[in-house]
Amino acid sequence: MYTGLVITSANGDVGIGESIKVLKNGGTALDAIVTGIRAVESNLSDHSVGRGGLPNLLGQVELDASVMDGQTLNAGAVAGLKNFEHPISIARKVMEELPHVMLVDRGAAKFAKEMGFHPRNLLTAAAKKKWVEGLDERGEGLKGMDKYLENLRKYSSNLPTARHLGTVNFIARDRKGNIASGVSTSGLGWKYPGRVGDSPIIGAGNFADNRYGSAACTGRGELSMRACTARSVVLYLQSGMTLMDAGQKAMEDLKDYQDSFGTYMNIVCMDKDGETAAFSFAESTTYNVQNEEMDRYEEIPRKKINI
Ligand code: GLY
Repeated sequence: MYTGLVITSANGDVGIGESIKVLKNGGTALDAIVTGIRAVESNLSDHSVGRGGLPNLLGQVELDASVMDGQTLNAGAVAGLKNFEHPISIARKVMEELPHVMLVDRGAAKFAKEMGFHPRNLLTAAAKKKWVEGLDERGEGLKGMDKYLENLRKYSSNLPTARHLGTVNFIARDRKGNIASGVSTSGLGWKYPGRVGDSPIIGAGNFADNRYGSAACTGRGELSMRACTARSVVLYLQSGMTLMDAGQKAMEDLKDYQDSFGTYMNIVCMDKDGETAAFSFAESTTYNVQNEEMDRYEEIPRKKINI
């Protein structure tokens, strides 16, 4: 029997304890990641995930999320979902109930209602205040595409060194050795309406395969979407690399994909034996690790990769 193990991005600290509890009670890795991520989605002080997340340019909170089951290699995702607090649970339902992998926007909302989820307002007063303040600087974006891009570029230039970039990653391995991974986000604040990042894209921001391991990303989704970063880590594991080498190689691959909106990326990963590692282009970033025998998670430095 394996010891239950959970790793998360830094902002997963609010859910990792509940996630471990699920494993201690004999629950599955899938149950564990969904439970942990739901706690983050309900954390109103996290303005990058779930309720309280920063809205798009029009003031609408649009959420993306995905789950992958490393035992079956099944996956589910939602993108551009409005008015539901727990996109991670709806992504799981897509995986379990439909012959599809992803639903977007109105179709995802219709499905959520049919599955018994209740719509609610996601824009909190605090997130709205931040959004309005940002609009003062970037509201020019509402005046046309040139202004939008100019402001986005200015905003992005500060991101590569940011310690916490939002979006939450959870990867768990349960007592049976099954691995599951989940990612949830409100995406880039003030994003262009309808913009979808890497979080709901299987292979880009999320991937799990019991036979080799799992990886999940935070950062500039447009980069990991182009490079298929989460899948790359697992493929490098499949080719025989160590976890440290596989993660480092997937980060280094991104150097070929630089663009004028910034090269910032973070990966958390776990191999089939429960080794863990995490990487970032930024200084002094961390991730969280907890196994069943630990009373509290440990915050561990990520390996910094030089751009
Ligand atoms: N990595 C999250 C996003 O780009 O939306």
